[in-house]
Amino acid sequence: MMIDHKEYGNLSELVSALTDPSLPLVSNLSNVSAVLGGMENINWAGFYIAEGGVLYLGPFQGKPACTRIPFGSGVCGTAAESKKTVIVDDVDSFPGHIRCSAESRSEIVVPILKDGKTVAVIDIDSPVLARFGRKEADELEKIAGDLAGLFLQSHT
Ligand code: SME
Repeated sequence: MMIDHKEYGNLSELVSALTDPSLPLVSNLSNVSAVLGGMENINWAGFYIAEGGVLYLGPFQGKPACTRIPFGSGVCGTAAESKKTVIVDDVDSFPGHIRCSAESRSEIVVPILKDGKTVAVIDIDSPVLARFGRKEADELEKIAGDLAGLFLQSHT
């Protein structure tokens, strides 16, 4: 399979073209993490999957990362618990930020909601301060909405 990124106008179109509901979730999330990790100035991009109030490391691009994050902890757990996108311009100024990679300077976490519950989060880190804004949040929220359909049920 050859995917030409230039054929697609934006990230969410590329993600829709890459995902297939007949595939296992892990296959879909693996290819989506490859797309997100290919964005400019990104050092980590991937998923944490919710189960029993804990976020477990899912498919990602980047260096090995924390495997378990309780709801309410760090940027990921904050987004999972509040069910809202969290944008952090400077990770050193976010109380409780969980440092998985020395390079990360800014971060965005977008929850994936299914039937009103957080089933996973999209987490993206950048080595550049304030890399993420409303534009990225809008695009990733659209992607999160599309990916929600791939999750069968909430485990939380
Ligand atoms: N920084 C995140 C932890 C996950 S890594 O960035 C991959 C957090 O504070 O939740």
